[in-house]
Amino acid sequence: MKTMFLLCAAIFAAAFCGFGFSSRAEASGKILVAYFSYQGHTANVAKEIAAQTGGDLFEIVPVTPYPAYDECLDVAKAEKNNNARPSIDGRVDNMADYDVVFVGYPIWWYDAPMIVLSFLESYDFSGKTVIPFATSGGSPLSDSLDSVRASAAGATIGDGILANDAGDVAPWISGLGYAK
Ligand SMILES: Cc1cc2nc3c(=O)[nH]c(=O)nc-3n(C[C@H](O)[C@H](O)[C@H](O)COP(=O)(O)O)c2cc1C
Repeated sequence: MKTMFLLCAAIFAAAFCGFGFSSRAEASGKILVAYFSYQGHTANVAKEIAAQTGGDLFEIVPVTPYPAYDECLDVAKAEKNNNARPSIDGRVDNMADYDVVFVGYPIWWYDAPMIVLSFLESYDFSGKTVIPFATSGGSPLSDSLDSVRASAAGATIGDGILANDAGDVAPWISGLGYAK
């Protein structure tokens, strides 16, 4: 009787654990959290997302660093007006391994920074899910979504978030089904 009970408990535990694993695997696959951050706010959110999802982190670093704030406003505006694609220092060599790519950035001039478009246009995202997140001084994430969609050709664009409030991150991740 005792053996029977232990056997049932083991089967139940295995089924329960298996359920947990398979539902997350279906929801997520392998996760990358790529981000550009000029002043550190988006970097903090990216690290939080990586911690909560178990994803790998990749920082989008410009070859030419952006200057101090006032000048950066002008440089970023000129990049946008010129539809520039600033060069990135480094690359994700194993992008093929990832199924889900969170892409984070500060809103710059009511849009994604042009270097984020450089990043998105550097890889083949077909068959992957790209999930945007941003921080801003108040502009909404939606300002940047047309650019992200156009540059991440072939990707499914997931439900992103403007993550100015750190408390919004955990419920958003679990709502997406990517909490580890
Ligand atoms: C060049 C530049 C342009 C910006 N444009 C906007 C904007 O259009 N709307 C907005 O709400 N905030 C704007 N901001 C503020 C940033 O989006 C905000 O401070 C963001 O949280 C910074 O993120 P970071 O610390 O990751 O760089 C701008 C900041 C910079 C430097």
